[in-house]
Amino acid sequence: MNPYRNYLLGFSLAGCLQLAACSTQNPVTNETMTTQEQDIAKAPVDVHSFAKPAEAVARHLDLDIAVSFDQKVISGKATYQIENLAKTNQIIFDTRGLKIEQVYLGEEQTPTTFRLGKEKEFLGSPLEVDIQPDTRLVTILYSTTANADALQWLSPQQTAGKKHPFLFTQSQAILARTWIPIQDSPGIRITYSAKVKVPKELMAVMSAENPQQKNTTGEYTFEMRQAIPSYLMALSVGDMVFKPIGKQTGIYAEPATIDAAVYEFAEMDKMLVAAEKLYGKYRWDRYDLLVLPPSFPFGGMENPRLTFVTPTVLAKDRSLTSLIAHELAHSWSGNLVTNATWDDFWLNEGFTVYFERRIMEELYGKEYADMLNVLGYQDLQNTLEELGPQSEDTRLKLDLEGRNPDEGLTDIAYEKGNAFLQNIERVVGRERFDQFVNEYFQTFAFQSTNTDLFLDFLRKELIQGDEKVAEQINIEGWVYTPGLPENHVKPTSSRFAQVADAYTSWKNGKPAAQLNTKDWSSHEWLHFIRMLPEQMTPQQMADLDKAFGFTNSGNSEVLAAWFIPAIRNNYTSADKAMETFLTNVGRRKFLVPIYKALIATPEGKTKARAIYAKARPNYHAVSTSTLDEMLK
Ligand code: BES
Ligand code: ZN
Repeated sequence: MNPYRNYLLGFSLAGCLQLAACSTQNPVTNETMTTQEQDIAKAPVDVHSFAKPAEAVARHLDLDIAVSFDQKVISGKATYQIENLAKTNQIIFDTRGLKIEQVYLGEEQTPTTFRLGKEKEFLGSPLEVDIQPDTRLVTILYSTTANADALQWLSPQQTAGKKHPFLFTQSQAILARTWIPIQDSPGIRITYSAKVKVPKELMAVMSAENPQQKNTTGEYTFEMRQAIPSYLMALSVGDMVFKPIGKQTGIYAEPATIDAAVYEFAEMDKMLVAAEKLYGKYRWDRYDLLVLPPSFPFGGMENPRLTFVTPTVLAKDRSLTSLIAHELAHSWSGNLVTNATWDDFWLNEGFTVYFERRIMEELYGKEYADMLNVLGYQDLQNTLEELGPQSEDTRLKLDLEGRNPDEGLTDIAYEKGNAFLQNIERVVGRERFDQFVNEYFQTFAFQSTNTDLFLDFLRKELIQGDEKVAEQINIEGWVYTPGLPENHVKPTSSRFAQVADAYTSWKNGKPAAQLNTKDWSSHEWLHFIRMLPEQMTPQQMADLDKAFGFTNSGNSEVLAAWFIPAIRNNYTSADKAMETFLTNVGRRKFLVPIYKALIATPEGKTKARAIYAKARPNYHAVSTSTLDEMLK
C-alpha cells in the first residue's frame, strides 16, 4: 500500500476541508466504504462536469472508432469498465454536441435506456445511462457532429505537404466531451485502449503507445496503461513519419517538416535526463513529440507520451525549445499529479513553469533561465494590469463556477504560480525545496490533487510549524489574495541588462546598425522589442527594421512581438508580413495581442475584420471562440 495513501486518508478524515464527504460511510448507501470508495468520495466537486464519480465511475475505456475525412465525423463506440460504487441505477457521462445512437450494458450488449439532459453553456449535456447495481460494462454508440470543438479538420492546403488532409484533437480543458462521451473531469482517471480506423494513406497517433510506421490497412491500435484524466485524451491523423532522437524519444511530423523538427529538438533527450535528475523517474515510458500544422491553437499540449507542438517553434536555431521543456515537465506536474478541478489550474501550470525553468537552467545555465523569468514576469505584470489589481481572477485559487474554464488560462496560473514556488525555494533553500517537490510528485503520483491538499502537504512537510518560515512563505498572500504580495522578488537578468544598455544608446540617437547585438538570442530580441516606446517615428521604425530585419524574421516570437509597435505606429511596411502571419498561424497566444492592437483604432478594426474574415477558416475553435468575441 502506498504510504501516501495513508497520508491522504489520515488527512481527509481529520480535516476534510471543503471536500465532498468526510466520513468512512458511503453517503448514499451508508455502508462502510472501501479505500477506493473513500478516495472518490473525497474528490472535490468539479463544477465543470456532470459526472457523479462518487456514485458510479469509469475506470477503463475501450475506444473503437472510425475517422471519416469526407464527412468530418468520428464515429464508433466507447466501452467503459465502470465501478458502480453506490449501487446506483444511473451513470452519468459528459457530452457536448455528440450524437448518441445507442447504449448497451454488459458483455452481452443488452440495450438500455438513456437520455441527454438539458444543455448548459460550455458544459454540454449530461448523458444519463440507466444501469443495474452490478453493471460492469457500458457501451456507448456515438458520432461527433460539426460542433465538436476539440477537432480541427484540415484540408490538404492547410498542411505542409499540401497533399493529404489532417486531423488533430485538443481536449483540454473540457473539450474531450465533444469527441468522446466521457466523465470529463480532471479528478477522474482512466486507462484506455483504442482501435482507430483511418484512410489507408494516413497514420493515426494518440496519447498512448504509438506505431512508428504507417501500415497498409489504415487500422491502428493503441494502449495507455497508466491512468490519465480525460483532458489528456488525444488523437491525430495525417500523413506523418517518425524519426528517433534518443532511445526513449522521437518526433512525428509531416514528411515536409520532419528534418527541421529533428534538428530543432535534438536536445529533447538531454531535457528528459535533466528532468529525471531533478524530480525523479519519468513514468510514461516513451516521450515523443508530434509537430502539427500551424493552425494548432497552442504552443504545446502535454498529451502523455506524445506532446503536441506548434511548428512556430521551428526557429532553425533551437531558441524556442523551453516550450518542449515545459510540456515535458507536465509529465510530472499535470499528467502524474493532476489538478483536481480547473480552479486549481495553477498546480498544473505554475509547477510546470517552475520545472521548465529548472530544466533550462540545467541545460543552458542560470543566465538563460533568468531571461525566461524576466519575460514571464513581464507577462505577469501585463496580465495583472489587464485584469485589474483587485480582480479575484488574480488569485492562484480560482473560482470558475458558471464560466468557461478557459477563463482561468492566464499568466496568473503560469507566472504567479511559478513566482510563488520560486519564493518558497528562496525561503527554504533549493536543496530542501527540491526534496519537497520530489516527495510531492511521489506522494500524489497518478492522483488528482487540489490547492488545499497541496497546501496541507506544504505545511506538514516543509513549514513544519515554523512560524517564521510560514510568514515568509505567506500562503495567504500568494494563494488567496489578488495581485502580487509585498514579499515577491522581481527577477533580473544580466543578459537583459546589456539589452537595456543597447536600447538606451539607440534612444539617445545611436543608429540601430551600430548597436552591439552580437550573440543575441530570440529572448534578447524579444526583450528589446518589448522595451520600445509606445510612440515611434517612421524613421525609427525603418531604422530598426533595416538593421535587424524584424519584418522578415523567421522567428515567430520576434515577428509576433514586432507587429505590435508596427500596428501602433502605423508602420505599413509590415502589413503584408502581418497578414501572411495571421492567415497561416493559428496559435492563440500570438493572434490575440495582434488583433487587439489592430482593433484599437477604427481603421485598424476594419483591417482586422477583413483579415479575420479570410483567416478564420484556418483557426481552431479554441482560437475562434476568443476572437469572435473580440472582433464582433
Ligand atoms: N496545457 C497547456 C495548454 C492548455 C492549457 C490548453 C489550458 C488548454 C487549456 C500547455 O502546457 C501550455 O501551457 N502551453 C503553452 C506553452 C508554454 C510554454 C507556456 C502555450 O501553448 O502557449
Ligand atoms: Zn503548460
